[in-house]
Amino acid sequence: MKEELKKIKEKAFKILEEADKLEDLEEVRVKVLGRSGSLTKVLRKMGELEPEERPIMGKLSNEVRQSIESYLQERKEQLEKILREIKIEEESLDITADLADVKMGHRHPLYQTMEKLENIFITMGFDIIDGPEIETVANNFDLLNSPLDHPSREKSDTFYIDDETVLRTHTSTVQIRTMKESKPPIRMVSAGRTFRFDEVDATHSPMFHQIEGLVVDKNITMANLIHTLDHFVHEMFGEDIKTRYRPHYFPFTEPSIEVDVSCFKCRGEGCESCQYTGWDMELLGAGIVHPQVLENCGIDSSVYSGFAFGMGVDRIAMVSYELDDIRLLFDNTREFLEQF
Ligand code: FA5
Repeated sequence: MKEELKKIKEKAFKILEEADKLEDLEEVRVKVLGRSGSLTKVLRKMGELEPEERPIMGKLSNEVRQSIESYLQERKEQLEKILREIKIEEESLDITADLADVKMGHRHPLYQTMEKLENIFITMGFDIIDGPEIETVANNFDLLNSPLDHPSREKSDTFYIDDETVLRTHTSTVQIRTMKESKPPIRMVSAGRTFRFDEVDATHSPMFHQIEGLVVDKNITMANLIHTLDHFVHEMFGEDIKTRYRPHYFPFTEPSIEVDVSCFKCRGEGCESCQYTGWDMELLGAGIVHPQVLENCGIDSSVYSGFAFGMGVDRIAMVSYELDDIRLLFDNTREFLEQF
């Protein structure tokens, strides 16, 4: 029996020593120490021994049990530690990895331009307002005083969704929304996408961007409009860039003007790019808000007056970045975008 106990101990220690997973330890616990384990079976044979041998063998088998149990516990702790370290090693994230080859993107030049424009007006105290791209015919044309026979209402000029709904052709729709929803004094700009059935060429795109401005208060005059636009042009393009105001017609402003800036390449001297005129392409339309438009939105035109302007953001980006084709802004080739 003594021999048997010795063999059980040796075998158990060998398994425990070689164990590389917790299941191996569990096997020793069940097969050696368990209710029908090898050690328990030996103990059951105790009754067959001579009475004087029983306490000796009882003591010995207890020592064997305790030594197996304590070695099992020791191996369990060792194995758990090793397995935890392996797991940490496998799951660890190497934050020192070299990311030099990962290229970060940046904002599109058009949106950089839009942000710059908005910031100039924010510093002048204007609010930034958003408006929807899908609009009612009322907001896009009727309330802006557009005559029923105005060519811009034609299906050949405007994208109609149904008879009462269009893709907005300009951001002047946000003037209407703002005047209907709030009371003067109003000082806001609104930038976003606009849509027209225009032939694509170097300066036209069927989807382009505008930024609209509107000021409504008491005693607003053309002098306020011109001062605001001059300040904007100098902030945006530099002090040496000149503005030119030409009379124009818009149904929603009276009087109306169009604004050009002096050529960027020759700074107004005259060059091939400006066809020796000294002036760059038309940037914006503006004017004094028509009294009928104020009245259409519930604002008393005998008390209040206002000015409004709408500019092509794409054209402004073209002037600032000296681009000779608007399509560069929409083709989005990597070579082009990486320059900004
Ligand atoms: C308007 O859209 C008026 N709503 C602007 C306005 C607002 C006038 C408030 C008075 C008061 P116009 O159709 O001229 O105006 O367009 C304004 C600007 O948008 C143009 O000066 C031009 O810079 C730009 N633009 C017009 N059509 C296109 C196009 N197809 N592609 C790129 N830019 C365009």
